[in-house]
Amino acid sequence: MQSLIDQAARLLAQSSRVAILTGAGMSAESGIPTFRGPQGLWRQFRPEELATPEAFARDPRLVWEWYAWRQGLVAGCHPNAGHLALARLEQHWPSVDLITQNVDGLHSRAGSTRVTELHGNLFQARCVAEGTVRDFQAGDDLPPHCSCGALLRPHIVWFGESLNSRVVEKAVAAVEECQVLLVVGTSALVTPAALLPVMARRSGAEVLEVNPQATAASELAAAAIRGPAARVLPLLVDQALALRGD
Ligand code: OAD
Repeated sequence: MQSLIDQAARLLAQSSRVAILTGAGMSAESGIPTFRGPQGLWRQFRPEELATPEAFARDPRLVWEWYAWRQGLVAGCHPNAGHLALARLEQHWPSVDLITQNVDGLHSRAGSTRVTELHGNLFQARCVAEGTVRDFQAGDDLPPHCSCGALLRPHIVWFGESLNSRVVEKAVAAVEECQVLLVVGTSALVTPAALLPVMARRSGAEVLEVNPQATAASELAAAAIRGPAARVLPLLVDQALALRGD
């Protein structure tokens, strides 16, 4: 593994524009379950009952109870050494754009500032009538309502919904302009996020991967480091910073 980290650190050190794509595995060592895999959330819960517009129309209270449970889970977790390493990279690097599929907000809590949240944020809600988005912590009175009287829904992209086009454009621009795309903790199965590594390669960027398992993105990677994010990322970032003399 060390020689792959060396190789990845060299590629990183040579690149001034870096993009990062993260998925649920990024937060696994913070204690937040991933979606797929043996302990994955989608093994225990049925997405069509909890994470679709139809589910919300049928039973908004049930859907909110699921998001309230996840808010509580995440509120008790902390950014791990991997999140902190990526925030350190941003502080010391000319340009780092972080694109995440995660809705847990842990990258921002770790100190990353240029974060694009593709799938929304667990701690925000949106008025179904006005479309306005606000910070939101679920209480006992579920489902919550906006002051206009309409329902508030979680500000999360559900199955069957499109991503916000401005958010997607920002992510695509970041991967098309980067020299290295670092892909961490995603199975790379859910589009459009899964297409970002393909776009990066097509634009001439090198792809690096950190994931204990092989994924759909592995074959694109110049270096696929098979290890957990909280262990590998501090080593990788420290080595890249040392090579740049920081
Ligand atoms: P998945 O659950 O599909 O994949 C998690 C990935 O993390 C797998 O490839 C694991 O091997 C890897 N992994 C596990 N532990 C890890 C660790 N400690 N370090 C690094 N990697 C680790 O999660 P995503 O790819 O993020 O969408 O799933 C994409 C989307 O599917 C999610 O954003 C969610 C879900 O439906 C929405 O909720 C809109």
